[in-house]
Amino acid sequence: MLPFLYQRLLKPVLFRFDPERVHDWFVALGDGIGRVGAGRGLVSAMYGRGDGEASVIVDGLRYRAPVVLAAGFDYNGRLLRILPSVGFGGVEVGSVTALPTEGNPPPRLKRLVRSRAIVVNKGLKNEGVEKIGDRLAATQTPEDFVVGVSIARSNREEAATEEGGIEDYARSLEHLVRMGIGDYYTINISCPNVHGGESFADPARLRPLLDRLSRVEHDRPVYAKMPINPPWDEFRRLADVIEAAGLHGLIVGNLNKDYASVEHPAEAPPEYRGGLSGLPCRGPSTELVARTREAYGDRFTLIGCGGILSAEDALEKLRAGADLVQLISGMIFTGPHLMGEIADAYAQERRPTRPEPPVLDRSQATRS
Ligand SMILES: Cc1cc2nc3c(=O)[nH]c(=O)nc-3n(C[C@H](O)[C@H](O)[C@H](O)COP(=O)(O)O)c2cc1C
Repeated sequence: MLPFLYQRLLKPVLFRFDPERVHDWFVALGDGIGRVGAGRGLVSAMYGRGDGEASVIVDGLRYRAPVVLAAGFDYNGRLLRILPSVGFGGVEVGSVTALPTEGNPPPRLKRLVRSRAIVVNKGLKNEGVEKIGDRLAATQTPEDFVVGVSIARSNREEAATEEGGIEDYARSLEHLVRMGIGDYYTINISCPNVHGGESFADPARLRPLLDRLSRVEHDRPVYAKMPINPPWDEFRRLADVIEAAGLHGLIVGNLNKDYASVEHPAEAPPEYRGGLSGLPCRGPSTELVARTREAYGDRFTLIGCGGILSAEDALEKLRAGADLVQLISGMIFTGPHLMGEIADAYAQERRPTRPEPPVLDRSQATRS
């Protein structure tokens, strides 16, 4: 019933409006409903799932379900209260930057409806690590709901040089660690929208960045958000740098920059700027998950992200070797019932996993 209502009634109406406006409405609505117990109860009743156990422990963190809201939707950390009721096992807040960032001039998002993709040209719009950190510190979440924070370089002139960019990441991480915010951290090395300066998705630039960040003492898992467009050899060189720096894992991956990959190319005229989410990400990200698992064994935690539009798509990434999945576009194109369906499908077909490590006591964590 819910899938039918979303597909036939709600989505056709919502898709008449500008995507960023719809996004802002949903964030305001989710924030409001999440503050009221009865609101959360109603949403849980609507999106409640079957009885099967779908929780999973990854790097000592317990997720109530193996599906996490990817970075970029709750970029200011306003939805933590409602997301557990919609079936998510966690959220990756951000990407946050050290300085508040206005983002690129609008329009920043464009739906490619037939191709089931979104052109994203946000330019890392967010309120900055200090304000977002305060908000996260003031928000209670259930024990089995994981709050990760994605860190990127401020999309501003000040952070455009290599050294400025590195210090900018470090400032965000230090602030979060000082406040004790974030169950895990993601270093977004692959954001295609950064103002000026080279991306850190290059081994020579990535090494000094990770060296600097490794000097920030904390006991949380750290992941790198990977680009999905480099050929395997290049991807591997990045993964080798990340392995040497001792990060826990990889999120595979970010937006697809290849406009030739959309199913209906006429929908994506070449003058558009930004990366593509959704279906164009599905094949490349799943393939990279499989190749990385094969090449690196259990060395990395792998989080599969990109083009998960059905429960079967999620299982495909888990079968390819992912420990968890993340999504945004599936929630928009398929509907908010998708997360419950993924959890149910996962509960029915639990991947043979490595022995579960102990759960970290999140309240006992020590930090510098
Ligand atoms: C509107 C929007 C904003 C995004 N912003 C970020 C971001 O700030 N940081 C980041 O690491 N990824 C960002 N992404 C990429 C997503 O996290 C994800 O990697 C990508 O959308 C592929 O997943 P999907 O096909 O499920 O949407 C954004 C994606 C969308 C759709």
